[in-house]
Amino acid sequence: MVRLPEEYRTLSEAELMSRLAVAREKLGEDVVILGHHYQRDSIIRFADFLGDSLELSRAAAAQKRARYIIFCGVDFMAETAAMLCAPSQTVLLPALGGKAQCPMAAMATIGQAQEAWRTLTALWGQDGLLPITYQNSLAEVKAFCGQHGGAVCTSANARAVMRWALEQGKRLIFFPDEWLGRNSALALGVPPEHIALWDPERPEANDPTLAEARVVVWKGYCHVHTHFTVEHVQAARQKYSDVTVVVHPECRVEVVQAADLNGSTSFILRTVRDAPSGTRFAVGTEIHMVSRLARDHPDKRVVPLARSLCGAMYRITPPNLLYTLERLLAGEAVGVVTVPPEMARWANVALERMMKL
Ligand code: 13P
Ligand code: SF4
Repeated sequence: MVRLPEEYRTLSEAELMSRLAVAREKLGEDVVILGHHYQRDSIIRFADFLGDSLELSRAAAAQKRARYIIFCGVDFMAETAAMLCAPSQTVLLPALGGKAQCPMAAMATIGQAQEAWRTLTALWGQDGLLPITYQNSLAEVKAFCGQHGGAVCTSANARAVMRWALEQGKRLIFFPDEWLGRNSALALGVPPEHIALWDPERPEANDPTLAEARVVVWKGYCHVHTHFTVEHVQAARQKYSDVTVVVHPECRVEVVQAADLNGSTSFILRTVRDAPSGTRFAVGTEIHMVSRLARDHPDKRVVPLARSLCGAMYRITPPNLLYTLERLLAGEAVGVVTVPPEMARWANVALERMMKL
């Protein structure tokens, strides 16, 4: 595990920013820096591309020139970039120590997925079921989906991917986010009684309504988005009579239903950007993105529905980014993200299915 040297821990903000600018300049086109919207401003200012998880996957696949792709996001996003980029390119996650781990991704392991698959295919047959995984998952789960005819999705295309599976007349199991799974299925008109829950911690005691289900959602969640409650929505409405509440579909069903609008990171961005001046929004997603939205759109009135921070995203710090860039200048790649070749081969099958939709 790479540890950040002491020297980098004690740099002032001004030193950090100026050394980052110098290192970035020197590395030139050898490096491309991708930044997710949930990153802090001091990282985003060095990003060549700012995007949501789907846009950054596309950007990683499109980068042909840079030898190094520095991914300022979380582990599963960097893994996806490593699988989509050219073999001659290297993806680095400037978290050091492999710490930018999304806790939700770890809520579905390959062993648990296989156990659920055995039970559900015993009910419906191998041909009756398709696995779909949210991009926010382990590479081994993406590979499982690729091997079994399924696909990856992000919050921006979850409904389209789910529709693709349902239109094949199949039932589907959705890993690992219960709420994105439920919200997407409900939006597609799947009745609530045809959505069952799979609890990987209690596979022997699973939902008795399984046999009737068209969609089985995995009992995983993002703590950043399940932090938002119906009370937060009510409080925003009480405080601002003209407010539009917009939330990410990783929020619980009752929060999505209490909100005016829900959609992916890019949907939220477009909604605020395209609204008439003076529109007031309470936004239920990661706090860095909400703060940036408020700052970038001073003619609108944007407030957070509540303050909720993604600790995994926050592990990408200016000292870590600086160390990563300066080591590259010294000829050493730190924080390299790789996926074992056989796993990558199958995960890529699932990713390619998504990219084509
Ligand atoms: P997006 O797919 O909207 O970029 O979401 C990423 C994420 O981590 C949401 O919690
Ligand atoms: Fe994971 Fe939630 Fe953070 Fe997204 S916001 S990376 S799902 S913990």
